[in-house]
Amino acid sequence: MKIQMDIYNIKQLDYFSRAFSKLVKPPMIILLIGDLGSGKTTLVKSLVKYLGSDADVTSPTFTLLNEYEGKFPIYHFDMYRLSSMEEAVAVGFDEYFDKSKLDGVCFVEWPENVKGLISAVDYVIKIDKLDDNTRKITLTEGKDASRS
Ligand SMILES: Nc1ncnc2c1ncn2[C@@H]1O[C@H](COP(=O)(O)OP(=O)(O)O)[C@@H](O)[C@H]1O
Ligand SMILES: [Mg+2]
Repeated sequence: MKIQMDIYNIKQLDYFSRAFSKLVKPPMIILLIGDLGSGKTTLVKSLVKYLGSDADVTSPTFTLLNEYEGKFPIYHFDMYRLSSMEEAVAVGFDEYFDKSKLDGVCFVEWPENVKGLISAVDYVIKIDKLDDNTRKITLTEGKDASRS
């Protein structure tokens, strides 16, 4: 499955998020791909809301991982400051990506920095910034996702 759409403002991103959130349940791993400022954290913020948490979602740029409690645990990673799978393993992140142990849902920004760490991906959401407010969203599922 691959769905692509243009969205023209944050409100439309929120509509996308509300619809997509209905597909999200543990144990799931969802990757977010896109340049700085494309809207990965903004999308996670909206998803966290629809997954039942009123947490103040901010970028885990320095903490690397933020955890929220919604209908289930939500793990929000930002791998921007990591440069290898080995570094991620050194801080214990590999534990989260073992689907047989995962009790919640992982959202991962900058997964391309930790290639090889995550094998079982459920969805990949790619965000391309077309202009200040417009984004192209590409949602890919499962096995198709690991190939793109
Ligand atoms: N349609 C849109 N979708 C997502 N973000 C948007 C959109 N239009 C404007 N923005 C703005 O773009 C910025 C995205 O920043 P952020 O979510 O932190 O990006 P990233 O996590 O990808 O670095 C925010 O300031 C957000 O308000
Ligand atoms: Mg971000």
